[in-house]
Amino acid sequence: MHNLKTTLKKVNYFWKRSQVPKQKPIQISRIDKLIIFLICVVISIISSFKILLVPSLQSSVVVAWSVSFFEVLISCSFLILVSRKENPTINSRQILFIISLLLIVQSIKTFFGSVLSPLSIIVPPALIISQGMGTITALAWVSIASLSWPDSIIEINSNLLVITLICSSIVSVFGGKIRNRAQLLQLSIFVPLGALLAQWLLIGNGQTFFVDNKDFFLSNGRIFSDSLLLAMILLITILLIPIFESIFGLLTKARLLELADKEKPLIRRLSIEAPGTFEHTLLICGLAEEATRMIGGDIDLIKTGSLYHDVGKLHAPNWFIENQDGSINPHDEIDDPFISAKVLQAHVDEGLKYAKKNRLPKPIANFIPEHQGTLKMGYFLHKAEEKKLYINESDFRYKGPIPQSKETAILMLADGCEAALRAMDINASDHEALETISKIVNARQIDGQLDDSNLSKGEIYLIKKSFLNVWKRIRHRRIQYPTTKNNTFS
Ligand SMILES: [Fe+2]
Ligand SMILES: [Fe+2]
Repeated sequence: MHNLKTTLKKVNYFWKRSQVPKQKPIQISRIDKLIIFLICVVISIISSFKILLVPSLQSSVVVAWSVSFFEVLISCSFLILVSRKENPTINSRQILFIISLLLIVQSIKTFFGSVLSPLSIIVPPALIISQGMGTITALAWVSIASLSWPDSIIEINSNLLVITLICSSIVSVFGGKIRNRAQLLQLSIFVPLGALLAQWLLIGNGQTFFVDNKDFFLSNGRIFSDSLLLAMILLITILLIPIFESIFGLLTKARLLELADKEKPLIRRLSIEAPGTFEHTLLICGLAEEATRMIGGDIDLIKTGSLYHDVGKLHAPNWFIENQDGSINPHDEIDDPFISAKVLQAHVDEGLKYAKKNRLPKPIANFIPEHQGTLKMGYFLHKAEEKKLYINESDFRYKGPIPQSKETAILMLADGCEAALRAMDINASDHEALETISKIVNARQIDGQLDDSNLSKGEIYLIKKSFLNVWKRIRHRRIQYPTTKNNTFS
């Protein structure tokens, strides 16, 4: 009985956890919803109207058309749902982009029929979607585009459909993981080659073999031209991806890595004008990266996000302790906790302005307000209390929102632990370091800062352990190695 109760409790716990959204989806305006719905209706009409083109319109034909129409319409809604689940920060422009790609593909299928190979129609969009929106969205898109054909499926070789489905699934899976343009180029060569081989084996003129038959190329001409066309369209798609990135705000892995380049003007400015903040940022990158690796989050996202989290400090670098370098503290000079609190909040507001000006993608810009959440500005609140001023606690809290994803929550925790770990005595034991980390993490947890992040207790424990590992590395680096007079080797 006791076991059953525990099991039920566990099931209930996991069910509740599975229902917590990873991140609150972005609200879409009514007009955008209407446009998206209308495009979905157009896709459904294009995909099904040919059923009605018969000499005598019988009720069975109308039923068949209705089934086909609603099948596509429901598939479109399913695609939108999946894309929003995978990318909670997806905006209406990006949803319109995915749906428009489906509209284009369905139109091509309707008006060009079997003239064009399904490989050239379906595989390239799958690459764009997997790069910009992720593998799951791309797979959902591929399943709809591959399974919904306006013409009778008999006109297209079923083996070719299977090859298309396999090739586009491969592109979707690898496209979501690929981190640079060189790997994309490799994909655009190997996928058409694989398709060529598969087509030759399954649907080509198998009796002819290129070693002993000179007619091989002639008899398999269609297969060659299809694969060549696919390779060319894939190459053009790779060239166009940066344009799609900037128009639709897609966040590809390659774009993330480009943004993480420390030669980017905003990061260069940070290193020159606010060197203390830059150092703090680099250490946080290390902490956050290690923790994200430990819980299986998006490492590229957190690396780039943490690099930009404090760019707002550029508006007044010397107001932040890490850049003061022993000089006069402006906060002491004005001696007004309310103004000091406003300066702290300004590093978030100004950071968002910098993000907009530099066209940082939304998931990266989210790190700026969410790393501070609605945290209390304890030092200045305490100062105001000492001065016996009339205090409204909300004046001494950041405006938020609290972290909406695991990655932004990790950054908040890393941000809190960084200064404490840096200041820790070199001889401190691992136990003492873990205790310090736990104190900071628990304080944020009790304050409700992690409530929307969907981090489990186990993940929080792993984050603490990974921070400890990074601290051990820092401590190791700070140990002075003994050197001898004649120590010329390295
Ligand atoms: Fe900050
Ligand atoms: Fe920070």
